[in-house]
Amino acid sequence: MVLEAGKDLFIPNYLKSIQDKQVDIKDGNTGNLVTQTDRNIQEFIHQKLKSNFPNSKFMGEEDDPENIAEEDLGDEATWILDPIDGTTNFVHQFNFTVISLAMCVEKNPVIGLIYCPVTEELFEAIVGKGASLNGRPLKINANGLDLIQSLVITEFGATGNGSEESVKKRMDQLTKLVRHGVHGIRMLGSAAFNLTRLATNSAQIYFEQGIHAWDIAAGALIVREAGGVVSELPNCVCERGLFRVNGRSIVAAASQDIIDEFVKVLLATK
Ligand code: IPD
Ligand code: CA
Repeated sequence: MVLEAGKDLFIPNYLKSIQDKQVDIKDGNTGNLVTQTDRNIQEFIHQKLKSNFPNSKFMGEEDDPENIAEEDLGDEATWILDPIDGTTNFVHQFNFTVISLAMCVEKNPVIGLIYCPVTEELFEAIVGKGASLNGRPLKINANGLDLIQSLVITEFGATGNGSEESVKKRMDQLTKLVRHGVHGIRMLGSAAFNLTRLATNSAQIYFEQGIHAWDIAAGALIVREAGGVVSELPNCVCERGLFRVNGRSIVAAASQDIIDEFVKVLLATK
């Protein structure tokens, strides 16, 4: 179903010019885009899920009368779909754009699927059963790596018209990391794609504030099942180490040591 959506709906539209893609702005935010393809993929996958799993709930990023609201995610089995994560990349034909689908039970992801139709990479994870890329098992290797040897990924998020305060906060975090020393900082434009890079050992830590459940539910499970750690950012309401899929923040890393060092750097006052 996800592969079918990738082949029939995603790719033909990805290949169109920006002008032909029917791009709309969400909530008056110039950095938050949606296309007709986002809506079509959601509709296609939602209908398939409904006929195959009639008792499951559904939460998709795009408007849908049957959507569970993010804050209302309950313990029942719920599919969480981002029909296109990295919509801005999709619009610009910038490869890092994926379909992300997860099943949550008791608010925890138990199945995660991320498919990048452009590169034909299919990431899969089942809780307790490991994670794979195109059928090959994934194993994060953090041996001997600390924050200084990490490739860091973050995002400005959908902040096209971001407030001065929120932009400053993000810039301060970047300044602290650069001054501490890291191998590099990347912004790739898709939270789900970012999480898959942790699972392939291409990056060691990813963090973002303001993120949504549909962006991270599948990727969080893929990272965990590949041997990484997923948590929330410091100063959030949860206890250290806890991760709520709808908690609106994430820090995922190759090891807990890297997260601990990162938190120390972020919370330092100088
Ligand atoms: C966005 C991407 C982006 C992240 C934003 C998300 P979308 O999702 O994941 O990397 O920084 O916070 O909203 O809009 O492309 O589905
Ligand atoms: Ca999306």
